Amino acid sequence: MSRERLIVALDVPDRASAFALAERLDGHVGMLKIGLELFVAEGPAIVRELRSRHPQLEIFLDLKLHDIPNTMRGAIRSAAGLGARLITVHAGSGVEHLRACVEQAEASSGGTLGVLAVTVLTSQDQLACEQAGHTRSPAELVGIRARAAAEAGCAGLVCSGQELEGITPLTSGLLRVVPGIRPAGAELGDQKRVMTPARAIAAGATHLVVGRPIRQAQDPAAAADAIVAEITAAS
Ligand code: C5P
Repeated sequence: MSRERLIVALDVPDRASAFALAERLDGHVGMLKIGLELFVAEGPAIVRELRSRHPQLEIFLDLKLHDIPNTMRGAIRSAAGLGARLITVHAGSGVEHLRACVEQAEASSGGTLGVLAVTVLTSQDQLACEQAGHTRSPAELVGIRARAAAEAGCAGLVCSGQELEGITPLTSGLLRVVPGIRPAGAELGDQKRVMTPARAIAAGATHLVVGRPIRQAQDPAAAADAIVAEITAAS
């Protein structure tokens, strides 16, 4: 179902705002993404509470872990009991780190928690990659990291829609989760490597992550429905 392919970023400061938005979106989207803003403010309880209030909505815990394997394992172990379906780790740390996370998720959740590898943030363009010391383009880095994600046994990866065509053969069977989604005419904000919902789906995205274009809409449920219709039309 197209609705299950739409993930909404709950980038809000507190539980009251999170519950209000979840209430409006239940029945319209498939998954809620809890990122650093909400998790740092409210802690793990917010994951359990959203799961119990909205059992139909899956939770994606977007913590973008980036540390030594032992510390990442510990974080995954702590997250495994919360009821989230997906958790993110940075792929730039390399295959060994990713594999440690995958093994720990499997051991601690019995396979219910999937690890997604974040390849290159959609807010980073060529210049940002150069400034960070990379000599490769964002697309080349995404290719290298997508291969690492597949090799480590990740459930999937996160990249922009612009790199999807290049990595689809490498990632068949994996989730390809795409943020930086902007319906035609929407404001870009800090996002650089953007795509419309229809183009990202046509290019091979399995799931879309949308934050501000839904959260800041006058009617978030209607904005979500319009994106779901676009997903259906492009599928
Ligand atoms: O508001 P907007 O649609 O730009 O939100 C995108 C969401 O996806 C944010 O929560 C951001 O943290 C997340 N994200 C991203 N780029 C990545 C991984 C996650 O924008 N590579």
